[in-house]
Amino acid sequence: RPGWRGLIEEFRDRLPVSDATPVVTLQEGGTPLLPAPVLSARTGCDVFLKVEGLNPTGSFKDRGMTLAVSKAVEEGSKAVICASTGNTSASAAAYAARAGITCAVLVPAGKIALGKLAQALVHGAKLIQLEGNFDDCLMVADKLSQDYPVALVNSINPVRLQGQKTAAFEIVQVLGDAPDLHVLPVGNAGNISAYWMGYSEDAEEGNATKRPRMLGVQAAGAAPIVNGHVVEHPQTIATAIRIGNPASWAKALDAEKESGGKIIAVTDREIHAAYMLLARSEGVFVELGSAASVAGLLKQAEAGWVDKGQTIVCTVTGNGLKDPDWAVSTAPQPQTVPVDVLMTAKALGL
Ligand code: F0G
Repeated sequence: RPGWRGLIEEFRDRLPVSDATPVVTLQEGGTPLLPAPVLSARTGCDVFLKVEGLNPTGSFKDRGMTLAVSKAVEEGSKAVICASTGNTSASAAAYAARAGITCAVLVPAGKIALGKLAQALVHGAKLIQLEGNFDDCLMVADKLSQDYPVALVNSINPVRLQGQKTAAFEIVQVLGDAPDLHVLPVGNAGNISAYWMGYSEDAEEGNATKRPRMLGVQAAGAAPIVNGHVVEHPQTIATAIRIGNPASWAKALDAEKESGGKIIAVTDREIHAAYMLLARSEGVFVELGSAASVAGLLKQAEAGWVDKGQTIVCTVTGNGLKDPDWAVSTAPQPQTVPVDVLMTAKALGL
């Protein structure tokens, strides 16, 4: 979007910033609200994708990070720390680089996508792999931020959610009102809480006539909110949302209840099917964790939970290029042929 200044400047009067706040921005936000014709036909609704993979580091985390790093610098921090399944660390590393401060990152060993690891490393983060899961990483990061001079930039830092609520503002601006239903993946449960806050503020301020029902989607092997108890050993191919004890659990339940919505689980098979549908039929390459939202929408539409004719927004949270390993290893191996027109035609089945 020409002239877009990043979300702190675009939404300054609705965010906890002042003239004293140094704005650390990569001009995040302002992402497309893309009509999804195939999903619309399948559900009998008007479905839009909020394509958050087009943020500067390829995920919605940049919305929270511009604010978290700006506030950390304002408060005099020389270092930030986060636990991450990959995207938070990629974003924190980039914004810390931009601000000229140190970034420390704790990730579950062997369980983050290659592209995200590359991002944290190339932006110069001090990255440590812990022999545990995300929940263990967050526990250690939180403790370190209490005992050492490093600012925690996970979503338990409330300014993260303040930044992320702006995605709801953008949707209301484009649609002219809130949608009927908003669908998004749930991991640590920060984003669903942030969207609910954004939609609620829009309704209070008279920018929207209603708030949407919220549909949160967890992976079946990492579905503590759906199961009603902590998952000690979360498992899913969607590593971004491989979380067993979400920090914003209570806030997500509030969003579910107040909106008349639902938090559901989808299987890895359903996530993969949605990932392929988005790539092959809508032309949108997302990461597996992001496809959970679409899997959840299709599941609820089939179950008759979604009335026809509704306006629906699905947030697709991260870019598919972050996980090239997985995409390539599950696709058919490309054929290699000599430089020859006929042989190439034959290989293409022409
Ligand atoms: N989608 C993607 C691509 C994510 O990276 C995450 C969270 C979520 C959805 C879920 O959002 O945690 O607010 O419920 N990723 C975090 C990280 C945990 O460390 O990058 P949530």
